[in-house]
Amino acid sequence: SPKRDLIGKKIIVTSGPTREFMDPVRFISNPSSGKMGYAVARTAWYRGADVTLIKGPTYIEPPFGVRTIDVTTAQEMYDAVLKESDGADIVVKAAAVGDYRFAHTLDQKLKREGRGRLEVILEENPDIAAEVGKRKRQGQILVGFAAESTEVVENALSKLNKKNMDMIVANDITARGSGFESDTNSVTVICKTGRTSRLEGSKEEVAWGLWDIVEAEFLS
Ligand code: C5P
Repeated sequence: SPKRDLIGKKIIVTSGPTREFMDPVRFISNPSSGKMGYAVARTAWYRGADVTLIKGPTYIEPPFGVRTIDVTTAQEMYDAVLKESDGADIVVKAAAVGDYRFAHTLDQKLKREGRGRLEVILEENPDIAAEVGKRKRQGQILVGFAAESTEVVENALSKLNKKNMDMIVANDITARGSGFESDTNSVTVICKTGRTSRLEGSKEEVAWGLWDIVEAEFLS
């Protein structure tokens, strides 16, 4: 029978990409499928947690049993996460948040003017994980993800520290069978307690392993 070790825990999971609009029909985004976040949310629900999934736009069905909040932009995700995470025991930031947005979003579709180039100004979005880390209460657990292409562990560890996370899941996006759109993943998990582990398999198996680590390191 499945473990029910997350009964009574309120867990927030973010997943998917964000969209940053230039005009009503054009946006900057990324190829995040939301699968990893869905797997994290679904496995937490299997294990008895009260799960809220805050998700960017994706084409796959969100998991059954999980309360879902749809957002589009990074700013909307920021607002939803800060509102929901107040009473949360665990916040998992699996979303691929756009780092930049257009400084001005046009009300009307931009017309092609034949000038050969278009300059736009981008401005930084708020860092949601860092803000949750800053506001973290005693006993609250923040789990982040890090998609890296070089010095995976070093970069992930510095993000863990900078954003006041308790655990970070580092993904080598150059490795095969890993990262965006894939059904499998291969990650290194680093806890602030010093424990480092590797997990590999379907995103479901990896998510299950992540909860085993959270359980062992922070809940027992
Ligand atoms: O800095 P980087 O984007 O690599 O950090 C990854 C972690 O930070 C992920 O958990 C991601 O969801 C989170 N993040 C965020 N808000 C941003 C950028 C990243 O919450 N604006």
